[in-house]
Amino acid sequence: MGLFTKDIKTMDDLFVHTLQDIYYAENQIVKALPEMIEKANDAQLRQGFQSHLAETKGHIQRLEQVFKMHGKEVKGVDCPAIDGIIDEAEDVAGEVEDKRVLDAALIAAAQAVEHYEITRYGTLIAWAKQLGRNDCAAMLQKNLDEEKATDAKLTQMAEKAVNRKAA
Ligand SMILES: [Fe+2]
Ligand SMILES: [Fe+2]
Repeated sequence: MGLFTKDIKTMDDLFVHTLQDIYYAENQIVKALPEMIEKANDAQLRQGFQSHLAETKGHIQRLEQVFKMHGKEVKGVDCPAIDGIIDEAEDVAGEVEDKRVLDAALIAAAQAVEHYEITRYGTLIAWAKQLGRNDCAAMLQKNLDEEKATDAKLTQMAEKAVNRKAA
């Protein structure tokens, strides 16, 4: 279902559609992370991916609760945006031989994923509040906080790598 199909008539429909979009995205991320863990060379990066895999499983559970709180069936809808980000990450990683360069590519790919999630959760929280669903907003905020913390950790690791090279 495209974003601008006639099936989306109200703000509530749009909220649910976007919830389905991020639900699909989180599930794709759970599938993609094990390969990133395997490819990462830096121990801190590998461990960071591992702990975010566990967090991502928690994001899925929170989303399932939001569907239930809102009286909607738990369901995903194809999200070509996250598929594209993950495909590109796999393509680039496949072309990098140098281990440090590979880690830099993995960090960049992971940040693209986090930023996608952050934009979706930011929107969903605003819409949940607009729809009078502060309970859903609070649940979604927990996911957003973890995405932001992960993004900040990735930035730190990227900066550490750059500094190491400069030293
Ligand atoms: Fe997530
Ligand atoms: Fe994430």
